[in-house]
Amino acid sequence: MLDIVIMAAGKGTRMKSNRPKVLHTLAGRALLQHVLGTAASLGAQRLITVTGHGAGEVEAAMRAAFPAAPLAFVRQEPQLGTGHAVQQAVPLLGDGGTTLILNGDVPLIETATAQALLAASGGQRLALLTIALADPSGYGRIVRDAAQPERVLGIVEHKDATPAQRAIAEVYTGMMALPTAALKRWLAALKNDNAQREYYLTDIVAMAVADGVPVVAAQPAAETEVLGVNSPQQLADLERRFQRAQAEALMAAGVRLADPARFDLRGRLACGSDVDIDVNCVFEGQVTLGDGVRVGANCVIRDARIAAGAVIQPFTHIDGAGVGESALVGPFARLRPGAELGPEVHIGNFVEVKNSTLARGAKANHLAYLGDATVGERVNYGAGSITANYDGANKHRTVIGNDVHVGSNCVLVAPVTLGDGATIGGGSTIGKDAPAGQLSVARARQVTIAGWKRPQKQKG
Ligand code: UD1
Ligand code: MG
Repeated sequence: MLDIVIMAAGKGTRMKSNRPKVLHTLAGRALLQHVLGTAASLGAQRLITVTGHGAGEVEAAMRAAFPAAPLAFVRQEPQLGTGHAVQQAVPLLGDGGTTLILNGDVPLIETATAQALLAASGGQRLALLTIALADPSGYGRIVRDAAQPERVLGIVEHKDATPAQRAIAEVYTGMMALPTAALKRWLAALKNDNAQREYYLTDIVAMAVADGVPVVAAQPAAETEVLGVNSPQQLADLERRFQRAQAEALMAAGVRLADPARFDLRGRLACGSDVDIDVNCVFEGQVTLGDGVRVGANCVIRDARIAAGAVIQPFTHIDGAGVGESALVGPFARLRPGAELGPEVHIGNFVEVKNSTLARGAKANHLAYLGDATVGERVNYGAGSITANYDGANKHRTVIGNDVHVGSNCVLVAPVTLGDGATIGGGSTIGKDAPAGQLSVARARQVTIAGWKRPQKQKG
């Protein structure tokens, strides 16, 4: 039986932000969401988060993010230290089994490392996750028995450490696994007679030693897993490390990134073979890129399916859309939710498409809007043309048949249907259905005023 306690009550003063620290995002997800995501993979009976600063906001965000996980929250008010934080969770802990303690602001802990820590504890030992750091200052130091270095004797906080102890490179990462029954016993005995007048969770190490409970240490696979976020600088550093790792994984799978340092994935990206991604692209949510897709520089693509051979030109924004095989989109195009482009569709610069389907080979190459429209095959939609889909109260559909040619600067006032093969003269405002195969024009006739003279600038 496993319980997981995640400490997330701290204020995060150095973030200098009104937002609770654990709700700041890394790769598009809250820090605490990363930790809970890993915790949820470990099969615990309960995931108990200790909240304090911004508790209501933190709890609501996590319940929304993990509707099905066995989440529980306990509040710690005021915050009197990490030992005091875990004390708040005691009423929710099981009677036996193991407790794993994680930190809400250490987002990149991996499932495999947590499992290694649990294995080191083995239901009977106190297992600490430790790491040797080039600069250990600020951290709790792992004090080992000089005669038997495999024996851990305690953790001494930086502020309480002697100069000799401060020279120790091995630090406590803030994560441990231990038998729940012993944890409860030790928590009840904590005192705050230290430099910070706090109840230190780390004091239980010396208690375990005194009780004859073995204390062991496990190490993470990478330092990045145990780095915490206390400042905007640390947040940005972890973000870049995380993005680099994602970029490396994609490149290892054959994706060609023009520059792995200028790539951001905030979600999941599935790529076929021979995908090229130029610099400064941001992918969010769930994005699929088919074989041979090329994405130009500076594109933002969220929740999209882009089929094989499609080319997304630079500065294109895609959100909640589908792009068909060998389609050409951009530069400077915008596909909004419900845009579904068929194969070989062309969407050019400054064209916006929303909640519209375009069949094979349809083209809207310049400065146009298609909203709530059904567009047939091989349609040519002229520059400056728009669907007037909104009457101020309701949205209406525009249906454009196959092989329709819409001239430039037309307004299609929905609901309206243009029959197959219809041609719409440039500058028309079309409020009635246009019959198939015929030319419809709706604009004032051109007149020439005989004898008209341009006004002259008056003198004096
Ligand atoms: C703690 C450890 C230290 C370790 C370091 C690793 C203690 C006493 N010290 O130090 O050995 O090297 O983490 O980062 O445990 N929190 C609460 N309530 C509180 C206090 C803290 O929920 O009353 C939460 C914080 O939000 C944070 C975590 O516990 O997520 C760690 O707290 P922090 O103040 O950063 O502990 P450190 O002093 O850095
Ligand atoms: Mg800290």
